[in-house]
Amino acid sequence: MTLQGVLNADREQGSINRNIYGHFSEHLGRCIYEGIWVGEDSPIPNTNGIRNDVLEALKQIKIPVLRWPGGCFADEYHWKDGIGPKETRKEMINTHWGGVVENNHFGTHEFMDLCALLECEPYINGNVGSGTVQEMSEWVEYLTFGGKSPMSELRSQNGHQEPWKVTYFGVGNENWGCGGNMRPEYYADLYRRYQTYVRNYDGNIIHRIACGPNSDDYNWMEVLMREAGRFMDSITLHYYTLPTGNWADKGEATGFDEAAWFATLKKALHMDELIARHSTIMDKYDPEGRVGLIVDEWGTWYNVEPGTNPGFLYQQNSIRDALVAGLTFHIFHKHSSRVRMANIAQTVNVLQAVILTEGEKMMLTPTYHVFDMYKVHQDAELLDLSLDGGSYKLGGEEIPAVTATASRDAQGAIHISFCNLRTESASEVKLDLRGLASGELSITGTTLAGDKIDAHNTFEQPEAVAPRAFTDFSLEDGTLSVTLPAMSVTTLELAVK
Ligand code: AHR
Repeated sequence: MTLQGVLNADREQGSINRNIYGHFSEHLGRCIYEGIWVGEDSPIPNTNGIRNDVLEALKQIKIPVLRWPGGCFADEYHWKDGIGPKETRKEMINTHWGGVVENNHFGTHEFMDLCALLECEPYINGNVGSGTVQEMSEWVEYLTFGGKSPMSELRSQNGHQEPWKVTYFGVGNENWGCGGNMRPEYYADLYRRYQTYVRNYDGNIIHRIACGPNSDDYNWMEVLMREAGRFMDSITLHYYTLPTGNWADKGEATGFDEAAWFATLKKALHMDELIARHSTIMDKYDPEGRVGLIVDEWGTWYNVEPGTNPGFLYQQNSIRDALVAGLTFHIFHKHSSRVRMANIAQTVNVLQAVILTEGEKMMLTPTYHVFDMYKVHQDAELLDLSLDGGSYKLGGEEIPAVTATASRDAQGAIHISFCNLRTESASEVKLDLRGLASGELSITGTTLAGDKIDAHNTFEQPEAVAPRAFTDFSLEDGTLSVTLPAMSVTTLELAVK
């Protein structure tokens, strides 16, 4: 099947916020502890307790923003327990995630240190569910107040005299569920109250983020925008892709059949409708588009790996996850006028992780490679690309065979990314290239493909799914012909010499 499309390189459609490539790391399972934090005394090479291999891998993909400490954990986290000498930090039970003891060794200072090492923006999620207004207000003071105040003095005593810069601050998480089981009317009022005391100190301007809906809870969005829209800078959306749609038996991360492959991609594509419909509600209350939509939890959620703690949400990651990531980025790009940030759940060892670790071993997942291949789209100008994506049919249902996106970076190079969702066959794409600057075009490509539907990396075979150079394209009379391998994510770079 040959698919036809057009790239209008002279039609820019707004910039793709680099924060769409953001991450989320919660005190959950082995994400923070073991995955990121090993402590200064660990035999695993580390910088101030943060493992070096993970740091280097995350730097490579230019992680722009990192959300912490949760998730559900955020609404039971009391930040003062995580400062001061580690030996005296209070322990707690992480009741949401496995009932394990949390020793609070990774706290505010360690998180801000991690962000500094990664050169990424911190996104801190405050506690509304079980925390007080004073506690939230004092956290912001501790983080950002430069003068003499009780919290800035406490910060200095703990070794950090200068205030940090913190832009993104979330006022609660999933307050419709684990963050307090609230009704939208009640949370809207609480949001208005709590955010009042999230102060801007010393030129640090906080971007206030309200807890938004779960998936298709359009009523939550309606109430929040109506009652509190003018008090927020952004509102969140959470949407997870479960192959079965059933929380009791979500489906497996590997060892699945084509029906599960298809169902997973179809459910991931649902993100487009969710963003479109939530944006319509936002447009009603915010026609100027001032308030951003932040998809701060997205990704695949499967049954945990056999033999692992069910509360740790540890799952493998296959070429199917790479396709979910790629097509989701295409959707985020399309909606980039509203979607200003997104945070995959979660960075290491939890859900759709980009990195998995086992003791001193670390490996990169297929999803990692998509972040790496797509970093060229960060802050680039979205270009008008239309493609008849063809169809991939299974069991009487239909999804596009191919999805695509294109952008131009600051140096003028154009990047086109494609996802071929089909399992059995390559897809031929013919793109008319219009509006390009004149000159000779040089084209290079990279592809990530699977040799079976659950192709994945292991600690023994960490390169089983890895990007490779891609040359299966040609250019003739302004038409770019590309043959996309089955089950692949591909990025082409077009540069005018
Ligand atoms: O990412 C795992 C959990 O999913 C988060 O803690 C919570 O916000 C969501 O329900």
